[in-house]
Amino acid sequence: MKSIVILISGRGSNMEALLAAGLPARIAAVIGNRPDAKGLATAAAQDVATAVVDHKAYGTRAEFETALAAEIDRHRPDLVVLAGFMRVLGDDFVRRYQGRMMNIHPSLLPAFPGLHTHRRALEAGVRIHGCTVHFVTPSLDNGPIIIQAAVPVRADDDEKSLAARVLAQEHVIYPQAVRWFVEGRLFLGADGRVLLDGAGIPEGALLVPAPEQSGATLRALAESG
Ligand code: GAR
Repeated sequence: MKSIVILISGRGSNMEALLAAGLPARIAAVIGNRPDAKGLATAAAQDVATAVVDHKAYGTRAEFETALAAEIDRHRPDLVVLAGFMRVLGDDFVRRYQGRMMNIHPSLLPAFPGLHTHRRALEAGVRIHGCTVHFVTPSLDNGPIIIQAAVPVRADDDEKSLAARVLAQEHVIYPQAVRWFVEGRLFLGADGRVLLDGAGIPEGALLVPAPEQSGATLRALAESG
């Protein structure tokens, strides 16, 4: 059975979704870079080993990442899962876990990398927003895409309502991507392409809004027009 280490910085709802998914994998540890990360308590309450590698305790990013890698490697994970881990990671660290580290980002990448994705999506006036799970490569919020979920942006959305709609989909696609990996079906090819069951384009790797959601959006648009 493959084993996983999950890295978090805060709330940890994606981590919770992974813990609840009944994955055929051992969750070896949840590691936070902030001692007050709420998700650490949630993991501990479910008898999952937790650790803190506090970035503030290190003088440089390289020192922090050396300590973080040592803590991760102690658990010998097959996969490192970034679940709301809000530190930019250096090239050496990323290369160490190349092909076995995933991230989830709250936008349809390559649109809106970085922070405040929901606010920026609303400001840009996009009609479709969503979330992306990708293998991690040295550039920020970039890297070969594994799975995405799209949600409609509604006429009356604010940052909070849009974030909630996207988060619900994050909790669907992250367990799916991790499940494919721990089942030994998902790989990052040498050419940087994502392979699921040996095929170039992962089957079912885009979730789209349920028809009733789209219908509600169209009705809202018609009524507001
Ligand atoms: C999630 O929305 C995740 O996509 C985002 O942080 C949130 C963490 O929530 N990650 C990023 O923005 C990474 N660039 P959670 O702690 O409840 O899972």
